[in-house]
Amino acid sequence: MKSLDSVPYSLDRLDDGTSIARAQSLRDRLKQRRTCRYFSDEPVPREIIEAAIEAAGTAPNGANHQPWHFAVVSSPERKRAIREAAEEEERNFYAGKASEEWLNALAPLGTDEDKPFLETAPWLIVVFAQRKGGIEEDGKTQNYYVNESVGIACGMLIATLHEAGLATLTHTPSPMGFLRDICERPEHEKPLMVVVVGHPEEGATVPAHALKKKPLEQISSWL
Ligand SMILES: Cc1cc2nc3c(=O)[nH]c(=O)nc-3n(C[C@H](O)[C@H](O)[C@H](O)COP(=O)(O)O)c2cc1C
Repeated sequence: MKSLDSVPYSLDRLDDGTSIARAQSLRDRLKQRRTCRYFSDEPVPREIIEAAIEAAGTAPNGANHQPWHFAVVSSPERKRAIREAAEEEERNFYAGKASEEWLNALAPLGTDEDKPFLETAPWLIVVFAQRKGGIEEDGKTQNYYVNESVGIACGMLIATLHEAGLATLTHTPSPMGFLRDICERPEHEKPLMVVVVGHPEEGATVPAHALKKKPLEQISSWL
């Protein structure tokens, strides 16, 4: 390693038993997360959203440029604008833009062009990927591994919100350029997803299909 300005690496050293127990316990809590598509309008404290975004902001990322921006929408006017534009895109998507194969893949989830949750849920976190900007956000410096970095950050965001007992939905209207205008973000930022956050509506259900997860033997190989 080249010599550079550095600080000690600090990490609590756990014994193996504690370490295993912690990993398994977090796994079990994460296993309970399900994408929710029925939200109530019950308010959620802003502090939870702030903490989750701060957690996301600690994600590993290309060259530490932190190429993300989280536009947090709660105003009824902007939520309505997002819903109207998203439903317009989704109508086109379901009415012919999406391939037969894609629609067949979505069928077991029961999704359609109606997105009432974009107005009922208290918070919409619109995630933007910064193609340029660097750590100073100058809008010019090249960023690296942008999609990978923002994807990891979104995982940490969703995991933190789940840990806080909130329901989330990862929503990706296609295309979603309209989000840049509604959220007043610059041209070099690409909208990546809307994370809908709130409490589930009473009686909310999830598609049984979502419970089918590939087992460890299938998703891993040990070499
Ligand atoms: C990148 C991405 C985009 C998604 N887009 C949508 C979407 O637009 N609408 C929707 O209802 N669900 C969407 N989902 C949720 C997936 O359908 C869901 O995660 C998957 O069916 C597994 O279910 P689970 O999250 O409950 O485990 C998306 C998920 C991801 C990661």
